[in-house]
Amino acid sequence: MSESNPHVALVTGGIGGLGTEICRHLARAGKRVIAADLAARAERIDAFRAEVAEFSDAIVFEPLDVSDHASSGATLADIQSRHGPVSILVNAAGITRDTSLRKMSEQQWSDVITVNLDGVFNTCRALIDGMTGRGFGRIVNISSVNGQTGQFGQTNYSAAKAGMHGFTMALAREVASKGVTVNSVSPGYCETALVMAVPETVRNDIVSRIPVGRLGRPAEIARVVEFLCNEDSGFITGANIPVNGGYFMDF
Ligand code: CAA
Repeated sequence: MSESNPHVALVTGGIGGLGTEICRHLARAGKRVIAADLAARAERIDAFRAEVAEFSDAIVFEPLDVSDHASSGATLADIQSRHGPVSILVNAAGITRDTSLRKMSEQQWSDVITVNLDGVFNTCRALIDGMTGRGFGRIVNISSVNGQTGQFGQTNYSAAKAGMHGFTMALAREVASKGVTVNSVSPGYCETALVMAVPETVRNDIVSRIPVGRLGRPAEIARVVEFLCNEDSGFITGANIPVNGGYFMDF
């Protein structure tokens, strides 16, 4: 893709803590970026526009509910008809409904599964044929360290995030020969609203167990996502890249 005809990148959860920084990094790397998120977050949308004002030509907001299969398919078709084909997809939409399983309602279970896991199916299903047909695509799914380790109070979230990486590996195999890579990034605890909502004593205990000694910065996640989305990253697929300050190490 040339400078005059840049790749179009779509970031779900695009106005969130990690999503905003991912949009900025992709815009800085020369992509045209669509920050897709719930239209209902009106105040946050205004704040987001201010935060990315320096990239106002490169980043646009589009309403999208990833949890709704029918409407998300139609919305993504409409977005592509107006902005051009999406060749980079970052699934960063995610919510928590933390509580121990013995107290968890069916609603708290399904809210998390439909946004965090069904949402990945919905966006990938809608965009994959375009990417394979054009012979190029980059998909990055934002999973979590808590999908790798499990976390007290997160049976729903940990299941969804572990499921995301299973999805990543399976889809990576299906589309590898068509120029499309599919990878996961698993952030640890970062400076986002999601993490700041964890009770302070619990959060402090978690931070005390991060070898780097602090929460991660959204930019430290975004630079890994940008790296995976680069045209030159075509030999990395089906991988999970942990970015967690050493909180969970494995091989
Ligand atoms: N480990 C062990 N025991 C714990 C515990 C823990 N982490 N947390 C609570 N308990 C104990 C309590 O001391 C209490 O014990 P008693 O019954 O003896 O008093 C009992 O378990 C509480 O159990 P409950 O069923 O009442 O738990 P709860 O429904 O109140 O939920 C919680 C507790 C709110 C989930 C709390 O544990 C918590 O906030 N945990 C952290 C969750 C977390 O880290 N979320 C991450 C959000 S950010 C994110 O997800 C981003 C990312 O990807 C990293």
